[in-house]
Amino acid sequence: MSFRLENIRGQRPVILPSLLLCDFGNLAAEVSRLQDAGINALHLDVMDGHFVPNLSYGMPIVEGLRNLTDMPLDVHLMISNPTSYVQQFVDAGSDLLTVHVEACEDPVSVIKQINESGIASGIALNPATEIDAIDAVLADVDVVLVMSVQAGFGGQSFQPVALEKLRQLAALREANGYSWSLEVDGGINTSTVRDCFQAGADWFVAGSAIFKQECYQAATRNLVELCT
Ligand code: DX5
Ligand code: ZN
Repeated sequence: MSFRLENIRGQRPVILPSLLLCDFGNLAAEVSRLQDAGINALHLDVMDGHFVPNLSYGMPIVEGLRNLTDMPLDVHLMISNPTSYVQQFVDAGSDLLTVHVEACEDPVSVIKQINESGIASGIALNPATEIDAIDAVLADVDVVLVMSVQAGFGGQSFQPVALEKLRQLAALREANGYSWSLEVDGGINTSTVRDCFQAGADWFVAGSAIFKQECYQAATRNLVELCT
C-alpha cells in the first residue's frame, strides 16, 4: 500500500476530481487550484480507444502529475489487456491502479500483479456487470469502483442501478469484514452524491461537477456537505 493513499483510506466522503476535463495546457495551475480547494487525491481516467471508444492519456500524464504533487494518484484504467501496462503505470507513479473486470481475462492474476508491484489495487465494474463477476477478487483489492455510467466519457447521466450495487457491496463488505473503500464514478453531482453516500459509497469521482464550476472549492464543499 502506497503511503500517500493512507491519507484517504478509510475516509468518507472523499471527493476525487476526474481530470478528463481539466486544462491540460496548465496542469500545474489546475493541481494547485484543486489543492487549494481542499482536494486530497486525484482520479486519472486512462482510455485506450479499444476497451472504450474514447481515447484520453497515458503514462506521461501520470508521471507529470506525480512530479507536480504528493496527492495520491487514483488511476482508472479503461484499457484492454491491462496486465501488459501495469508496470509502466506503477513506474509512472500511480498509487492505486483500478482495472475493469470486463477487460481482464483473469482478474485474479491482474490484481495479484498490481498488489505484488507494491501499490494498491482496485476492481471496477460497468453498470451492466453483475457483482458476482468480481467475487473472486473481493478479498484482495483495496478499492471497489462502481461505475454509475458506462465507462468511456465524462458528462453522462447517473444510472441509478449503481445505488443498488453500492448497497449490496456495502452489505457484503460488512458481512465479510473486507476493508476496501467503495468508490463511485460517473454523473456524480449535487443531485446524486447524497444517494450514493447513503447507499454506502466512500469515494466520489467528480468531473463535470468540479471542472465546469467557476470555483472548485465551492463545488467540492457542496458535494461534501450534501453527504454529511
Ligand atoms: C467515465 C470516467 C469518469 C468521468 C467522470 O468513463 O471514468 O471518471 O469522466 O466525469 P463526470 O463526473 O462528468 O461523469
Ligand atoms: Zn474514472
